[in-house]
Amino acid sequence: MTTNVDENRGDARGAALLLEGVTVYRGPAEILRNIDWRVEPRTKWALVGANGAGKSTLLKALVGEVDSRGKIVIGNKEQVGYLQQTAVAGSNGTVFEEASSGMRELNTAKQAMEKSQEVGDLQALERATTRFELIDGYKQEQKVASVLKGLGFTNFEMRCHELSGGWQMRVAFARLLLSEPTLCLMDEPSNHLDAAAKKWLAKYLATYDGDGAMILVTHDVDLLKSMDHIAEVVPGAGSLQIYKSCNYNQYLDLKEQRAAAAISQYERSTEKAAKLQAFVDRFGASATKASAAQSRVKMLEKMKRDGLLNAPADDIIAQRFKPSLILPDPPRAIGEKLISLQKAGVGYDGEVLVSDINIDIMKGMKLLIRGPNGAGKSTVMHSLRGSISLIDGDRSTNPDLRLGVFTQDLAQELDPSARAVDLVTAYARTGLDGDITVSEQEARAAMGRLGLQGEKALRHICDLSGGEKARVALAMFALKASNVYLLDEASNHLDSECVEALGEGLGSWGHDTGAMVVISHDKSF
Ligand SMILES: Nc1ncnc2c1ncn2[C@@H]1O[C@H](COP(=O)(O)OP(=O)(O)OP(=O)(O)O)[C@@H](O)[C@H]1O
Ligand SMILES: [Mg+2]
Repeated sequence: MTTNVDENRGDARGAALLLEGVTVYRGPAEILRNIDWRVEPRTKWALVGANGAGKSTLLKALVGEVDSRGKIVIGNKEQVGYLQQTAVAGSNGTVFEEASSGMRELNTAKQAMEKSQEVGDLQALERATTRFELIDGYKQEQKVASVLKGLGFTNFEMRCHELSGGWQMRVAFARLLLSEPTLCLMDEPSNHLDAAAKKWLAKYLATYDGDGAMILVTHDVDLLKSMDHIAEVVPGAGSLQIYKSCNYNQYLDLKEQRAAAAISQYERSTEKAAKLQAFVDRFGASATKASAAQSRVKMLEKMKRDGLLNAPADDIIAQRFKPSLILPDPPRAIGEKLISLQKAGVGYDGEVLVSDINIDIMKGMKLLIRGPNGAGKSTVMHSLRGSISLIDGDRSTNPDLRLGVFTQDLAQELDPSARAVDLVTAYARTGLDGDITVSEQEARAAMGRLGLQGEKALRHICDLSGGEKARVALAMFALKASNVYLLDEASNHLDSECVEALGEGLGSWGHDTGAMVVISHDKSF
């Protein structure tokens, strides 16, 4: 984590964080314009907004990683913790060591104990042990264990570098929570969590009453519900709408009310203006009514000055863009049985994680794989896909099988230096199941339906937001006709509109010919 937080330190006038007239840039583009925000100590904020709205950019501006103008002040005494949206590399230490590495007091006390034991200095050992007990060292260790358990770890002694990216992210997240920063910035921490860990996190956040203020970026409704205040980034307008002391449901209502009130106010004003204007038009030249007409002209002018005749601002009434996903029909019918696993045992390094799996994926079948944390859902998916070899048993597939795969990692694996549209086009054209006639036009149309219109389709992957990358992967997925779709946590990074589009796209796809196997924690699936 390289941040330039210190650049933004200062007197925040009692707040943990203070923004005044802040404009944030990505290159030359203004992502946020002239925003104000005051985050009091010990308040829990959700930062919401559509994919690509500018949430991650705003967090990056706070820690000095992207350019901004205006006043960003982080209180002098605040300890800032920041979890980025993308997974971070682990250390060589164990899960426990890395997770607790931010707890300075605990670690110094522990080191002192170990050192005095090593050199056999009994007096020093006693002093160190007393100190360890004084700071509740054992309780703190329990705390580490409880957070790690909550996030799904069973083995705390594993080395971090042996973990997958998603699990390394969990370690980083555990470390952040345990270091108990007084200003905690979290960018979509739940993307790599499963249902059980998400549930734990929602409860942890809801009952958190420590000293810290938090800002949480997430699209997950359960997590949003654990926050007490909401700030919404409105793309286009580049504004930040503040909903203070407002939970998620109240926010939804309030937003609707604000929009309805603004529209009806505008309608009333324009109606009144039209009447005034009609009077002026009719009697303006009349000798007896000229002064009455004149006063109406003044009223009209005042209405204009007060902004009553301006259409309501986009950021109040704007309907968020509704993406849509159109999936091509499955290729011609190829028989009943598509993929079959018999007496299959799957796992890694010769160690069986799930054994004796017998599944026949039949034409038209829609299958949801569920199971607790670490039970091997993704491993089962990998074996259906054929991307890992079976330890026992057999896998057979229909000779004409066309497999479409969408996983949680796909978006992260896209080449950051490639242009989005090139990736989508190349993907659609290549492979046995590719179609060389797919044009750039078609690729851009599919991307556009997913909200990557115009210039966005031409950007390099590294210049897109997390959710926009996921949409690129989704566009790739949408351009190939398949008989079987395999989806593993497809909704991560996507905002609620896009998850809905994915659900609808899948819902109207395949009927009784296409099959799909889904791992998802998203209830809407
Ligand atoms: N490195 C970059 N260079 C230029 N533009 C970028 C870069 N990263 C993101 N953008 C653009 O800035 C805008 C805001 O992106 P940001 O990552 O802040 O969105 P976000 O609200 O976090 O979205 P998501 O929900 O998808 O994570 C988007 O239009 C995105 O395309
Ligand atoms: Mg983001």
